[in-house]
Amino acid sequence: MKTTFKIFTLILVFTTFLFAQNKQIEKKIDDLLKQMTIEEKIGQLTQYSGDRSATGPVTFKGDHKELIKAGKIGSMLNVLGTNYTRQYQEIAMQSRLKIPLLFGQDVIHGYKTTFPIPLAEAASWDLEAIEKAARIAAIEASASGIHWTFAPMVDIARDPRWGRVMEGAGEDTYLGSRIAYARVKGFQGNGLGNIDAIMACAKHFAAYGAAVGGRDYNSVDMSERQLWETYLPPFKAAVDAGAATFMNSFNDINGIPATGNKYIQHDILKGKWKFDGFIVSDWGSIREMIEHGYSKDLSEATKQAILSGNDMDMESSAYRNSLAELVKNKQVPMNIVDEAVRRILRKKFELGLFDDPYKFSNPERERKELNNPEHREFAREIAKKSIVLLKNEKQTLPISRNVKNIAMIGPMAKVTKDNHGFWSVTIPELNYDKFVVSQFDGVKNHLGKDTNLLYAKGCDIDCKSNEGFAEAVETAKKADVVILTVGEAWNQSGEAKSRSNIHLPGMQEELIKAVKATGKPVVVLINAGRPLVFDWTADNADAILYTWWLGTEAGNAIADVIFGDYNPSGKLPMTFPRSEGQIPIYYNHFNTGRPAKDDKNITYRSAYLDLSITPKFEFGYGLSYTTFQYSDLKLDKKKMEMTDKIEVSLNVTNTGKYEGEEVVQLYLRDKVASVVRPVKELKDFQKIKLNAGETKTIKFTINKEKLSFYNAQLNWIAEAGEFDLMIGSSSADVRLKDTFELVNLNYIH
Ligand code: BGC
Repeated sequence: MKTTFKIFTLILVFTTFLFAQNKQIEKKIDDLLKQMTIEEKIGQLTQYSGDRSATGPVTFKGDHKELIKAGKIGSMLNVLGTNYTRQYQEIAMQSRLKIPLLFGQDVIHGYKTTFPIPLAEAASWDLEAIEKAARIAAIEASASGIHWTFAPMVDIARDPRWGRVMEGAGEDTYLGSRIAYARVKGFQGNGLGNIDAIMACAKHFAAYGAAVGGRDYNSVDMSERQLWETYLPPFKAAVDAGAATFMNSFNDINGIPATGNKYIQHDILKGKWKFDGFIVSDWGSIREMIEHGYSKDLSEATKQAILSGNDMDMESSAYRNSLAELVKNKQVPMNIVDEAVRRILRKKFELGLFDDPYKFSNPERERKELNNPEHREFAREIAKKSIVLLKNEKQTLPISRNVKNIAMIGPMAKVTKDNHGFWSVTIPELNYDKFVVSQFDGVKNHLGKDTNLLYAKGCDIDCKSNEGFAEAVETAKKADVVILTVGEAWNQSGEAKSRSNIHLPGMQEELIKAVKATGKPVVVLINAGRPLVFDWTADNADAILYTWWLGTEAGNAIADVIFGDYNPSGKLPMTFPRSEGQIPIYYNHFNTGRPAKDDKNITYRSAYLDLSITPKFEFGYGLSYTTFQYSDLKLDKKKMEMTDKIEVSLNVTNTGKYEGEEVVQLYLRDKVASVVRPVKELKDFQKIKLNAGETKTIKFTINKEKLSFYNAQLNWIAEAGEFDLMIGSSSADVRLKDTFELVNLNYIH
């Protein structure tokens, strides 16, 4: 009783404090707004990229510094490091009102220490680790003068042709929402105002991941159902986690560009979800509304953007050129401008920049945090967890350290930049070849002097000739086992990196065939920013590890898995198609009226004549060096009322020889509903660790929320009826099943 009282008092004191602090901030903003000219207000809404690097097409050719001094720029991106940010901030301090600048940066998967690309991290299904990676990224970035990351990218993506799948958490809304929440929490730590917290930015709002044909920047044509059911929930999760900012997107949604989309920004995000942060445009996306054919000129684009809720203009020069005139002509009310400025100033106050604009520019802290060995250690940790074992015939893996000769072959063996992957921050002074561990070095670090590590490149990533194959084959012949490392270059997945052909680039699969023909055991490592198609390899290699782009510690982490120091535990966050013709392919589709149950019976069924109905590797799939047995599924009741819940329990036993981790996945199917429901939907999961021979009891709770969906009127409801419960090791590998019923006794919704 006493403790409850204490906790209650603490919460009360804290809330009262927050309330008073917020009130104070709003009062300070009121005072400031009264002093600001319209140009200074627009300045707060204006953001430009620094002149050292750009992450989009630069259109502004003038002098940023002059504008900053005149109070006409409120935020910069691509300005990093304590020195450089300080230089800029000093200029802002020469402006009339001395409003500090905000420094934003794409800190997508780490800052100096890079972690696996977000899609790879999602494969870890380890929310704690994912949050910690974001935390470390924030610690490093904030120590380097950054206030704000343009992450997490929470776009659901069902089309691996789209290069930006690498930035998100994959195809699933539930997993994606949990990860969105974890990442926001990680970036923002104990809250803005703390020295190591940076603002998160949920992007790209909205539905950018559904670009037609997987072609970047393309249109999105989407039903309201799909929008609410599949694409919006991760954004809502970001709001729930307290995301300070949102970024809109390049695409149009059903004909209206997201940047000028009032329904999306004003009505849903700021209205229904009560988001109190600010929205930044994507790079140049206000101006691009002209190209879309939505705005006749920059002035109209400006008006459409600000009236629909876009607060900050990144790189369009739209607000700077047109907004004052629009206000003067009463086409945009001043209170709309004030509201946008307020949202931005609020964050500057919350970050503590008005108290000390140089708060994040401490070189000593920068040196310390950017060289913190614990960050590297963790990079290795999460990289190991992100690797997915796709195949392991005759227990080719792990490779014994007693092997005499190992050949490392392939274009990815000695690279560093490609381990880093797309959207890595480039710190000018850093020698990445020394900083990033190559796969060859990682393997070498693991071997004693009695093992020879041979090497042949075989071919380049994009090779058009088989010139290097003979040397690769000769090298393979001298070895007891071959590690063949192939994949995409760092710039073959990412923004504007859509591909219609997602096979292994160049002649890499031919190289695998040539090496495999030696008869030596071949372990293939596939490094990529997206699911690739590699049908022959999947069928013929002895073992395959999907190693994505794993970041700074890639080489060591991969070697940890190869030699069995770590037992792989990753599970695919996206479906891997057999060929491009299956795209889009995802596990949680509807059943249709004519489903094909298998590949043999497809007459008058929903299938392709020339392709299996199954993917190559399904969502949730991933092997381990050990095996897990699922048993004893129990439901504490088979009927539940709307306000009730069902407790589910089951046992998982490690039946193999190695300690290992398993992601136990819970899927549900609403068998009959007023709108059709997917064949299965992930609704919960747990990642557990088991010693060899150990059994653990896993518990899940099913409540109304997990059974709810959007009905025809788009109300979030649950309907009485029967549900299938499926628990398994992947979306296709269901090990335990049951059914239960949701009953509606006295409940009125
Ligand atoms: C991307 C954003 C990114 C921005 C700033 C744009 O091209 O779409 O995701 O945050 O550039 O670099």
